[in-house]
Amino acid sequence: MTDAPVMTATHLARHYAVGGGLFSKPQTLRAVQDVDFELYAGKTLAVVGESGCGKSTLARMVTMIEEPTSGTLTLDGNAVTPDQWASLRQSVQIVFQDPYGSLNPRQRIGQILMEPLVINRPDLSKSEKEDRARQMLNMVGLRPEHFDRYPHMFSGGQRQRIAIARALMLDPKVLVLDEPVSALDLSIQSSVLNLLTDLQERLGLAYLFISHDLSVVRHVADDVIVMYLGRAVEKGSKEDVFQNPSHPYTQALLSATPVADPEHHKERIKLTGELPSPLNVPAGCAFAPRCWKATDKCRAERPELMGEAHQAACFYA
Ligand SMILES: Nc1ncnc2c1ncn2[C@@H]1O[C@H](COP(=O)(O)OP(=O)(O)OP(=O)(O)O)[C@@H](O)[C@H]1O
Ligand SMILES: [Mg+2]
Repeated sequence: MTDAPVMTATHLARHYAVGGGLFSKPQTLRAVQDVDFELYAGKTLAVVGESGCGKSTLARMVTMIEEPTSGTLTLDGNAVTPDQWASLRQSVQIVFQDPYGSLNPRQRIGQILMEPLVINRPDLSKSEKEDRARQMLNMVGLRPEHFDRYPHMFSGGQRQRIAIARALMLDPKVLVLDEPVSALDLSIQSSVLNLLTDLQERLGLAYLFISHDLSVVRHVADDVIVMYLGRAVEKGSKEDVFQNPSHPYTQALLSATPVADPEHHKERIKLTGELPSPLNVPAGCAFAPRCWKATDKCRAERPELMGEAHQAACFYA
């Protein structure tokens, strides 16, 4: 028996009206279309894809910053609707790529960590809030004396630890990590990733881990969704997607990622053609103009995700 998912997304979509002026109608930009997934306690679902494929838009819907244009989200089996956002938001927290931009430079770390409690937990006394903040500081590998320092006194990796600590202050069930290590030096990335793995084990957190970096995803994911121009084009376990990629787009992404094992050399697939504008998504399969396998069928008809546990949206997978 498997546990019930903490969160589900069904046919999630977000469209934006862009442009439009005196003489032109606004156009519809389909940032995310028809995305389904499930998040489980203690597990990491990674979302990968090129810049602009809709990863952060997905993150904003999941964290209830933005309402889906269509589709549904559930949390612990209950539908998430905007009138419940206020009460449900505590359970879904986010960590962004840029830890400096997201920390108030005028606040001491202690204040930054206590703020979510000040807003949401009037039942706690001041000393209880402070105790919790100090415990969290310890949990993310920072020292007690850091409590009274300001964000600029920390390195990038330490600041990301602070952002993670703040996200955990309200005991969330789901943590959305939007490129959490992309701004960090390579040497620091693995220590932050190890911290995230450790926290997930201790707290049973469900992660939605967004990254364009497949070597990072390989490190942390249980399951993977590959997105292209707003749609999921491949889904499966990490093993499925990394060892047996079926969509040509996934194959191309993987072939561009360096592998540690020099024996295991592979042909590098070079993608030709530009990434199309999301305002002008090609008919049929959106990847067809860049795909070496594409046929007339692909240019005319859009393939749905096909398969059971390991799925790909390709007629020739
Ligand atoms: N508020 C908005 N209004 C109009 N278009 C938007 C808005 N937010 C995002 N978009 C568009 O939606 C598409 C998806 O953007 P999104 O930020 O989700 O991509 P991303 O995968 O996170 O990219 P990156 O890897 O660069 O962070 C892009 O074409 C973007 O320009
Ligand atoms: Mg983004």
